[in-house]
Amino acid sequence: MISVKNVSKSFQHLSLSQKTVILQNVDLSIPKGSWISIVGPSGSGKSTLLNIISGLLKPDTGEIYYNDVDLYQLHNKAKSDFRRKTIGFVFQDFKLLPYYSVVDNVMLPLLYDRKKKELYDKAVTLLQSIGIKKELFSRLPEGLSGGEKQRVAIARSLIADPDVMVCDEPTGNLDRENRDRIIDLLGQLREDGKTIILVTHDLDVADHGDKLYFLKDGSLTLGGVSV
Ligand SMILES: Nc1ncnc2c1ncn2[C@@H]1O[C@H](COP(=O)(O)OP(=O)(O)OP(=O)(O)O)[C@@H](O)[C@H]1O
Ligand SMILES: [Mg+2]
Repeated sequence: MISVKNVSKSFQHLSLSQKTVILQNVDLSIPKGSWISIVGPSGSGKSTLLNIISGLLKPDTGEIYYNDVDLYQLHNKAKSDFRRKTIGFVFQDFKLLPYYSVVDNVMLPLLYDRKKKELYDKAVTLLQSIGIKKELFSRLPEGLSGGEKQRVAIARSLIADPDVMVCDEPTGNLDRENRDRIIDLLGQLREDGKTIILVTHDLDVADHGDKLYFLKDGSLTLGGVSV
């Protein structure tokens, strides 16, 4: 179970003296093995909420619990180890490392933990399972299309076999065939007992979740409306 408890977050812009409230007293419980989808207008704070849930951005107030682990009470090293082992994060802007090849980007999260050959084989299997052809494996990210980058980012998020997948608009750059492939993959992961937290603007993707939340004006409500 992941629990978001009374989370609030504001940002202060350098040019303005006022703070902009992005999230206000957000509560959310996500049972293990469920898939929740979050929709909401651009700029409503969806990525901010995912970053907070994943330990990348400390909320101003509130807590994030993974079972009985209070994420922001962990020290930096423990928090990053916990994140690496528990959470697979698909960034909205991919965040592939520009000077590493496709296959190295996928291997990177575990490069220092596993035997290189074993890791290479796993990376190749993951890449092939989401339709990345072999001739792209040694290419740098700059030589990939948006949809290819997105799929490499998804493969990287799966390399550590995480219990929780946090996906920020993971199909935004994909054609229908590849989008459906990712929907099937996420469905399979849920069947395997993984927890999925997904942000999307695509209601067809959101509909595959067990619950649909709508984020607007800093508040999260269940049973979203169209955006
Ligand atoms: N580091 C930051 N400093 C200041 N403002 C920020 C920062 N990060 C995000 N914001 C602002 O917070 C708001 C929410 O941003 P966020 O990226 O969470 O929105 P979003 O719902 O993911 O939007 P989109 O659907 O376009 O991805 C935006 O107005 C954004 O400009
Ligand atoms: Mg976003």
